[in-house]
Amino acid sequence: MNDLFDRAAWALDPDTLHLNHGSFGAVTKVVRREQDRWRRIAQANPNGFFTRALADAVDAVRIRVAAFVQADPAAVVLQPNVTWGASTVLASFPLKPGDEVLITDDTYAAVRAAASYACARSGAQLVQAALPPLGERDGADIVTAVEDRLSPRTRLAIVDHITSPSAVAVDPYAIVARCRANGTAVLIDGAHAPGMLSLDVRAIGADFYTGNFHKWCCAPWGSAYLAVAPQWREELRAAVPGSEVYRGFPAGLEWWGTADYSALLATPFALDTLGAAGVEVLLERNTALVNEGAGLVAAALGQQSPSPTSIAMITLQLPRRLAWDIESARALRQRVADDIGAEIMTTMARGSAALRLSAQAYNRVEDYERLARYLGAIG
Ligand SMILES: Cc1ncc(COP(=O)(O)O)c(C=O)c1O
Repeated sequence: MNDLFDRAAWALDPDTLHLNHGSFGAVTKVVRREQDRWRRIAQANPNGFFTRALADAVDAVRIRVAAFVQADPAAVVLQPNVTWGASTVLASFPLKPGDEVLITDDTYAAVRAAASYACARSGAQLVQAALPPLGERDGADIVTAVEDRLSPRTRLAIVDHITSPSAVAVDPYAIVARCRANGTAVLIDGAHAPGMLSLDVRAIGADFYTGNFHKWCCAPWGSAYLAVAPQWREELRAAVPGSEVYRGFPAGLEWWGTADYSALLATPFALDTLGAAGVEVLLERNTALVNEGAGLVAAALGQQSPSPTSIAMITLQLPRRLAWDIESARALRQRVADDIGAEIMTTMARGSAALRLSAQAYNRVEDYERLARYLGAIG
């Protein structure tokens, strides 16, 4: 069974309403089976697997995922997740007192923390570009905000390809162009991009581009990559050095100690299942669905429909009567889970309590109708 549009193809609990694909992704049953196959291979002969089979298997994965994101295979290092990928960059990036690292209001907490640690260690300053309240979804305001905060001291800018709390797609080409003109290196946080958009990492040309396969490519958890421009490869140091570190880029950064590498190894299979449906087909279908779903929820809350998104996630501001800060937003999430068995993502986005909706192949318009009915009744 390999039809992504068939709900029964997914490993998900059919009695739960899953409206937050974006945070943790989800796998199909065939992908789960492929991961199990790799686990069985490893567990049948741990010594043979770790000391002989794994390195070649990882090389093959690296080549396959590089082709998927259109990166030079020589640029790619596999990582367990974007949290790790960003930390790899920030553990290595040369910073000195007086330098600046630029992030934005929307930067993901883990990435912000890695940047903040790197600044604290080096004496560099963390600068945060302020973003306007939730509104348009073309990301142009983010490009402008980043550009406005670039200074002669900005050594590294960290910008999302797709933001997490506000679910906005940013033009990475514009970001790279602005930063390059300022002599600033760029790390693009593409946590949500692979599988959501057609990616051409080589053409984007960022110094560093990290992305997850376990979100929108529906690979098992623990599968990501970091693409690194040639001038940085030899400088790259693992945030958590493993015993293979002497091998340098990339193999030396792909051994995370004794760990479960089955998610990485199952990723080519996950990409095949996704490829069978088609990234463009999914994007078009899921974008239309999430826009329709957001319209239903907004109407039930007595709000205007949010301006349409071009991706499969959208963030709506919540009325203050439902949530006003992070605690009340979390309480709402809990209430929705308890009362209608729905999993939603509530957060603070640009100063407002917000609801981020996702759409994946297993979602139907009735899912959003059910949430809308409930929120309308309590709000
Ligand atoms: C923009 C962004 N960056 C980084 C991450 C972290 O991803 P992971 O937990 O897979 O490391 C997320 C997770 O949602 C994210 O949205």
